Amino acid sequence: MKYNRIGNCTMKISEFSYGAYLSLANYGDEDNARALVRTAYEAGINCFDNADEYGGVGNAERLMGKILKDYKRSDLVLTSKCFWDTGPGPNDGGLSRKHIFEQVHQSLRNMQVDYIDIYYAHRYEAAVIGQTDPNLEEAVRAFSDLIHQGKILYWGTSCWKAAQIAHAHAICEKWGLYKPIIEQPQYNMLHRFDVEADLRLMARRLGFGITTWSPLCNGILTGKYNDGIPKDSRLGDPRVAWLKYDADLTPQNIEKVRRLSAIARELGGSMAQLAIAWALRLPEVTSVILGATKVSQLQENLKAVELRDKLTPDVLARIEEILGNNPCPEEEAPVKPSFDF
Ligand SMILES: NC(=O)c1ccc[n+]([C@@H]2O[C@H](COP(=O)([O-])OP(=O)(O)OC[C@H]3O[C@@H](n4cnc5c(N)ncnc54)[C@H](OP(=O)(O)O)[C@@H]3O)[C@@H](O)[C@H]2O)c1
Repeated sequence: MKYNRIGNCTMKISEFSYGAYLSLANYGDEDNARALVRTAYEAGINCFDNADEYGGVGNAERLMGKILKDYKRSDLVLTSKCFWDTGPGPNDGGLSRKHIFEQVHQSLRNMQVDYIDIYYAHRYEAAVIGQTDPNLEEAVRAFSDLIHQGKILYWGTSCWKAAQIAHAHAICEKWGLYKPIIEQPQYNMLHRFDVEADLRLMARRLGFGITTWSPLCNGILTGKYNDGIPKDSRLGDPRVAWLKYDADLTPQNIEKVRRLSAIARELGGSMAQLAIAWALRLPEVTSVILGATKVSQLQENLKAVELRDKLTPDVLARIEEILGNNPCPEEEAPVKPSFDF
């Protein structure tokens, strides 16, 4: 396993992380969850990703905390996040100082740890959940204060736009506060714009890392949905029924997966491995967060590194031709922003 510095930060995380979103608590099988965490850890994964609402409020944190208690704390980089509503009250979501402080205390209790390594603002636009958009200075100060208190070591953002991260950095510069060190966006063969057209350049400019989620686009990029929705799969699970109606499961995307699978076979790997190796190829990507519900899936996905060196310019061009969704077709060097700091 390779370990990468997070942007300019000195702490390193493994190039693969393991995430608890729909993989652990939702399935209620503690022995399986233990086996998944053990497989990840033994493969060298040190970063375990969580959020206050994964698996139903607090459930994934409690399960992962219980399992990881058996591991050496200094071997682990534990994350959690706040933002989404955790209750019906007017202050039960968003990025107020009140909610950020209350949630971090709850997450510490749930995971049974004294500190969280990276604590994320899970979104920016609170209006999407009926909360008010943040007073950014209030939110930035809250994260920075939690670092001073030793409750968290670093903070990061998830699904923020480059300009919002730049604004947060500018506030930190002005007031001498701790800056966010990492952004966590969606990134996979079907969702490229945020990373490639928006975040990459700013990550280099400001020195933050990028850790990406859903490398398999909910499993679509494994090929498992090519002939319909298997019963024991994420998109076949009535508890997450909204995902089935997500715009990604289209005949056009399935056709792309079929064609990409032929390239994967040629390279001696699986479709899942090709998709993960592809997500890993950018130098700005610090870590790709893997989701897996079965040990066999995780073992397969971890072997994606073997395909990485086979992604020659020629192979990448063939993949590009199939995807047809390059947001920066001209670009080796992305366009410079028209503003400075
Ligand atoms: N910050 C955010 O807003 C955000 C959002 C989403 C996720 N995340 C993070 O990113 C992590 C990964 O995201 P994700 O779980 O959505 O990743 P994903 O790669 O899109 O999907 C993973 C799912 O695909 C299926 N799968 C994985 N490997 C497979 C294989 N080799 N063969 C067949 N099926 C396979 C499994 O589901 P089934 O077996 O159930 O089909 C697995 O749970 C999450 O756990 C979370 O930590 C963050």
